[in-house]
Amino acid sequence: MFYAEELVEEIRTKNDIVDVVSGYVRLQKKGSNHWGCCPFHNEKTPSFSVSGPKQMYHCFGCGVSGNVYTFVMQYENYSFPEAVKMLADRAGVNLPEVEYSEEAKKKAGKRARLLEVNKEAAKFFYYQLRDPHGEIGYNYLKRRELSDETMHKFGLGYAGKSGTGLVQYLRQKGFEDALIKEAGLANYSEKSGLISQFWNRVMFPIQDINHRVIGFGGRVMGDGEPKYLNSPETPVFDKRRNLYGLNFARTARSGNIILCEGYMDVIAMHQAGFSQAVASLGTAFTAEQANLLRRYTDSVLLAYDSDGAGVKAALRSIGILREAGLTGKVINMRPYKDPDEFMKNLGKEAFEERIRQAENSFFFEVRVLQEQFDVKDPEQKTKFHREIARKLCEFQEEVERDNYLQAIAEKYFIGIENLRKLVLQYASQTGLAKPIERPKSGIQSKNSPQESAKKAQRLLLTWITDEPAVYQKIKSFISAADFTEELYKLVAERLFADLEQGQFNPAGIISMFEDEDKQSEAAALFHTNLPQLETPQEREKAFHDIVYAVKKNSFEFYSSKLGADVSALNQVVEGKKALETLAKTHISLE
Ligand code: UTP
Ligand code: MN
Repeated sequence: MFYAEELVEEIRTKNDIVDVVSGYVRLQKKGSNHWGCCPFHNEKTPSFSVSGPKQMYHCFGCGVSGNVYTFVMQYENYSFPEAVKMLADRAGVNLPEVEYSEEAKKKAGKRARLLEVNKEAAKFFYYQLRDPHGEIGYNYLKRRELSDETMHKFGLGYAGKSGTGLVQYLRQKGFEDALIKEAGLANYSEKSGLISQFWNRVMFPIQDINHRVIGFGGRVMGDGEPKYLNSPETPVFDKRRNLYGLNFARTARSGNIILCEGYMDVIAMHQAGFSQAVASLGTAFTAEQANLLRRYTDSVLLAYDSDGAGVKAALRSIGILREAGLTGKVINMRPYKDPDEFMKNLGKEAFEERIRQAENSFFFEVRVLQEQFDVKDPEQKTKFHREIARKLCEFQEEVERDNYLQAIAEKYFIGIENLRKLVLQYASQTGLAKPIERPKSGIQSKNSPQESAKKAQRLLLTWITDEPAVYQKIKSFISAADFTEELYKLVAERLFADLEQGQFNPAGIISMFEDEDKQSEAAALFHTNLPQLETPQEREKAFHDIVYAVKKNSFEFYSSKLGADVSALNQVVEGKKALETLAKTHISLE
């Protein structure tokens, strides 16, 4: 823990989750819960529920859950200490510095220092651009038709004729050489000591969604190599998980996101009023970035270069978007090379028209495919049709597959029945027509013993958090030690200790865990669906079965450890007795 537990709890209780989430999501009260559309995946009907009594949220669509801390961490991309700080500010709680542990202080301090040095470097470049010495850079950007306002909005800057100016400036501001190097702003060279690799370039500060500078891209003046030089990855600069322009695009509310290839494209688009434009960071588009986008939209328009490399990149990105469950469309940029040039030549209205005409990504793929075949040659044409059939098999849902099949048949003058046959043929050869089993979808039909044991433990904890009163009825049989899943044991220890003192706050338990994955796992515990049962008898039987299963698993677990671990003996002896008693005890839920 970075902060004392009591403090973390105090801040949590002072930030009602319904209030906090309402700041981001429109919620409606239904029963004891509030409902809204999930901000972490795209949906049109609300499946995101926020519980006031439990002070937690859960999405029945995508499965995310947590407390007020995890919510701001996920939504704002904050680390745990940053979330604590934000919520403390919100509730007017003072955070004493001394609450940091040494190691935590180092870690949090390092991130903060890296952000500071980046910010300071951005300032340096910014002023250089506006200094007479930076005239080359300024004129360059003017030639590229950027307004002063746009340059300001994106914090554009200039790195002068040598790489020493930045280092001197940062040293003067009190940053150590090691930090400057770790931020990726400079390197040691034998000849000149610490020196920045950024010089003679216009500088594009790269910001995270909270407008903090996390790295830079620098474009060379004229024709040098490389054209763009980017900061290396650092503890604050994760190229896979950030997107250029997203700090503005996230609030654009245009119903879609436009994904471009370059920084200049994004800037030209924003200048023309398309503030939903983003770009990846000098690397190919990633699955992580697709998931990030899913928070804001379900429709991504690709505005990639019209050349061969751009088409190839588009094909790749289409696959990634589809995998993330996003609809992809491709904007035709021709006859221009990229959005930047398009905008300069044809302007905003023409681009709006291109957005309306954006091509469905599957049609795009088939069209590109066609270019590889000479369809006047019957043999090639057949191959083309086979390839189409193969691609159609990628649709797992039959209705969708058939809709595409019909559309493509019509578009390419292929007999529908012939194409259907080809698809069937291909599918039966490869077994691809069957929906591929996706681990993500959850519900596994066959449970291993471990999974069943885990499930029983999870259900028991959920049941207790739903009906805390049942704890009194089972505490003679069950203790935290019976939870053989480490995380559940920690939760049970805390939950039972609370209940012993007449307290109950499941949301507080989540903050015991520092690690984000553990937090979600703990949070998910409290959202497992309990068996839906009609009669009180059925309920009592189900509850008894769960308690018995947990105890039995615990007994077996400790028995298996007997040889190696003497301390297991107690658990075994106690477990045996408890199981015998449980077998003949009726636990009433009245
Ligand atoms: P492009 O070469 O398409 O650049 O690279 P551009 O946006 O058209 O640039 P201008 O208009 O000539 O200034 C697209 C993106 O690929 C990355 C950068 O992120 C760039 O914005 N890139 C390109 C690099 O990282 N390094 C390079 O050398 C070139
Ligand atoms: Mn360009």
